[in-house]
Amino acid sequence: MDTPVTVVILAAGLGTRMRSRRAKVLHRAGGKALVEHVVETALEVAPAGRIFVVVGHQAEEVRAAVTTPGVGFIEQKEQKGTGHAVLSGRAQLAGMGGYLLALYGDSPLLRPQTLRRLVETEASGDAACVLLTAMMDDPTGYGRVIRDAHGRVSAIIEQKAATPEQLAIREANMGIYCFRADLLWKHAGEIGTDNPAGEYYLTDMAGILTRAGHRVEALQLEDAREALGINTRIELAEVDRILRDRKRRELMLAGVTIESPETVIVDSGVAIGMDTVIGPFAQILGKTAIGENCRVGACSIVADSDIADGVEIGPYTIVNASVVERGAAVGPFARLRMDNHVAPGAHIGNFVELKKTRLGAGAKASHLAYLGDAEIGAGTNIGAGTITCNYDGIRKHRTTIGEGAFIGSNSTLVAPLEIGQGAYVAAGSTITDPVPPDALAFGRARQALKEDWARKRREMQKNR
Ligand code: UD1
Ligand code: MG
Repeated sequence: MDTPVTVVILAAGLGTRMRSRRAKVLHRAGGKALVEHVVETALEVAPAGRIFVVVGHQAEEVRAAVTTPGVGFIEQKEQKGTGHAVLSGRAQLAGMGGYLLALYGDSPLLRPQTLRRLVETEASGDAACVLLTAMMDDPTGYGRVIRDAHGRVSAIIEQKAATPEQLAIREANMGIYCFRADLLWKHAGEIGTDNPAGEYYLTDMAGILTRAGHRVEALQLEDAREALGINTRIELAEVDRILRDRKRRELMLAGVTIESPETVIVDSGVAIGMDTVIGPFAQILGKTAIGENCRVGACSIVADSDIADGVEIGPYTIVNASVVERGAAVGPFARLRMDNHVAPGAHIGNFVELKKTRLGAGAKASHLAYLGDAEIGAGTNIGAGTITCNYDGIRKHRTTIGEGAFIGSNSTLVAPLEIGQGAYVAAGSTITDPVPPDALAFGRARQALKEDWARKRREMQKNR
């Protein structure tokens, strides 16, 4: 493709039927704001510097939702129609030449290959505009594609302005166009407001261009659902379901096993390696990357985390913003709250919570522990019930434990605290002072013993 493509994404509307205080394009499907999906699809046909989003309602929030650097914005202060939206960008867009592709920010199902076909159709012929259409059983609400006696597109008529004969036309306008930019800008000023809504309709361009002697072509979609625009929360859920399904299929075709796939949620930004198995009801979210030969157990949630090859995540485990290295095992029923680093071969068992903690290679915390703001050396064993007391009510403090240490069950480690390598902490201890390497620390009351106490008590009660 030699001719440059500029993309303008219409996203200024509020979307009244969403019944929301948030602009429609900010709602999420497939783990992303609707507008982000469209921007990512646009990136397949144009560089970020040639992509512009028309913002109006909650312009600041919509700008913030577009995370791709370099994307431009066009302010449409008042929403006076789709034609007005494009015209609002005249100053920024008119100089860009080439082709101008107009998309909607609320249609996240559109595939990159469809956009490519649209541009290729434009490039291979002499049409001033190629528009995306589809034959629909029920085109209610859509603009109808009017063709002349030779079957050539001559106009688009909106539902509100259509005659009964025009309403019977099943070919609907999907609202996605590729224009020759020079011809668009030459004639865009001819769009008027002479219609029942009193709006500037971009659809008028079809009639305007044909009347000026240019050709307008239609590219028919096989499945109109690809251009489905979201208007209600029911459609939002439907689109979310389709996006989730696409993502799971993509992963399965790439060699990932997904058990009961219809129950599993994977965000579109997630990568998963070959021969990894994802259990039922798991959720893999955000910018997570999972390596090969891993297992993510049923009902686990992994978000924004890096999971290396061969990691086992047991069922009902939550891993958030953490790194788990090769061959480590986490869960079942564990929680890696945030900023944790689990080194190769380490093991975290049930009911263990980690926060801002580094667990060294081969270290183990197998049952019931809270490890917060801690650095734990390789090969160290953390007994069941160990708690790092990292918070004094005002500040957080660190616990450092050397390599090959052994922390007995039910230990209370009062931070700031340092425990040297190879040291032992006796079970049930409260440790407040540093423990040097290879030492044994007790921090508990000595056991008392009263011989025969229980037998005597029983006898006393019998004689009462
Ligand atoms: C539009 C088309 C219709 C087509 C349908 C497909 C027109 C006049 N009609 O109708 O032929 O069948 O899409 O879905 O174009 N927007 C702005 N600024 C505005 C108005 C709209 O940014 O001033 C944005 C909206 O946020 C929305 C998109 O443009 O994302 C479409 O606008 P909408 O009002 O939904 O157009 P439709 O009535 O669906
Ligand atoms: Mg619409």
